[in-house]
Amino acid sequence: MDTIKALLFSFFHLLFFLSGQQQQVLGHRQLYGFRPTKIFVFGDSYVDTGNIPKSVLGSWKEPYGLTFPGKPAGRFSDGRVLTDYLARFVGIKSPIAYRWRKIALKNLKYGMNFAFGGTGVFDTLVANPNMTTQIDFFQQVIKEAVYSPADLKSSLALVSAAGNDYSTYVAVNGSAEGFQPFITKVVNQLTLNMKRIHGLGVRKILVPSLPPLGCLPQSTSKLSFQQCNETENSLSGFHNLLLQQAVAKLNNETKDSAFVILDLFGAFMTTFKNKGSSKTENPLMPCCVGIGKDSSCGSVDDNGVKLYTVCAKPEASFFWDGVHPSQEGWQSVYSALKPKLQQIYC
Ligand SMILES: *[C@@H]1O[C@H](CO)[C@@H](O)[C@H](O)[C@H]1NC(C)=O
Ligand SMILES: *[C@@H]1O[C@H](CO)[C@@H](O)[C@H](O)[C@H]1NC(C)=O
Ligand SMILES: *[C@@H]1O[C@H](CO)[C@@H](O)[C@H](O)[C@H]1NC(C)=O
Ligand SMILES: *[C@@H]1O[C@H](CO)[C@@H](O)[C@H](O)[C@H]1NC(C)=O
Repeated sequence: MDTIKALLFSFFHLLFFLSGQQQQVLGHRQLYGFRPTKIFVFGDSYVDTGNIPKSVLGSWKEPYGLTFPGKPAGRFSDGRVLTDYLARFVGIKSPIAYRWRKIALKNLKYGMNFAFGGTGVFDTLVANPNMTTQIDFFQQVIKEAVYSPADLKSSLALVSAAGNDYSTYVAVNGSAEGFQPFITKVVNQLTLNMKRIHGLGVRKILVPSLPPLGCLPQSTSKLSFQQCNETENSLSGFHNLLLQQAVAKLNNETKDSAFVILDLFGAFMTTFKNKGSSKTENPLMPCCVGIGKDSSCGSVDDNGVKLYTVCAKPEASFFWDGVHPSQEGWQSVYSALKPKLQQIYC
């Protein structure tokens, strides 16, 4: 009798012990073990992996895609872009472009990319869906039950607004006094967008800061790619300050630090400094440049003759064209962002 009691006792004790352990493990996993399995992407050409129609803009034309996959594939680079590196970090395939969702069903499980090159949070000069419309597409996809609430809970969003709103402002309006209020408007709209994506059930929202616009080749070409335009960089700085404040506020309103800024500005600057110190390569000089005033990377004349040149070693350039990093550029940005990316796991 006593032996049985003792056995039962230790049995229950063991059960209790085991269930306690298990609870601890589960609790630990809930707190620290977020392992994203899907990425949803919104924004512009810094993250687009093939959404824009082949007839528009340059991402489906040579020499785009030269390094990867070896031919034009809808990316605004010679190869991979930020989306691809984020997917690599998470350990999944790059999410399928929204445009191809009906023909690549097996790839839906990695999430979906709704980003369109040339777009902003507001309408731009390019007639592609703005970010609000991209989120509408996402909402429609959720409504069609492509993704369950559990899927969304184990997913990340990447939300890029890299400056098309501002180039549109300069082209359409351009008043200096109007610029700061416009930046405030852009960040407010971006904040609403991030909140909406989180509200749809996505667990973590990553938002890149604005790159140093005054260091993009389209800006530095006037100065033979020798120095950045500090006036334009300070506009990026103002956008980034407002974004920081907005994200701090969002995180204060939500429990689990759902919103994370990826410091693209800092990552670009760090890379320029590192690459610049070699003294052999000018990090502000793009690989692919137009010949003559009105041509750019990918331009051809009426007879199909190239109006651009491509450098001998794309892997030695940070920039690919007038606004976009090369694959090598994104790779070094990714290296700089890696420590911050660890934050998505907590
Ligand atoms: C986005 O585009 C839609 C459709 O063209 C338009 O109705 C809406 O006003 C735009 N949203 C913003 C924030 O500009
Ligand atoms: C353009 O600038 C003017 C004056 O600075 C301002 O009143 C107007 O709202 C601006 N338009 C846009 C679209 O920002
Ligand atoms: C720097 O950018 C500002 C704003 O776009 C422009 O007005 C100015 O001319 C630029 N400076 C140089 C040296 O290009
Ligand atoms: C966070 O929210 C609380 C109230 O909800 C407020 O008192 C506090 O000032 C906020 N902190 C920040 C940094 O916004």
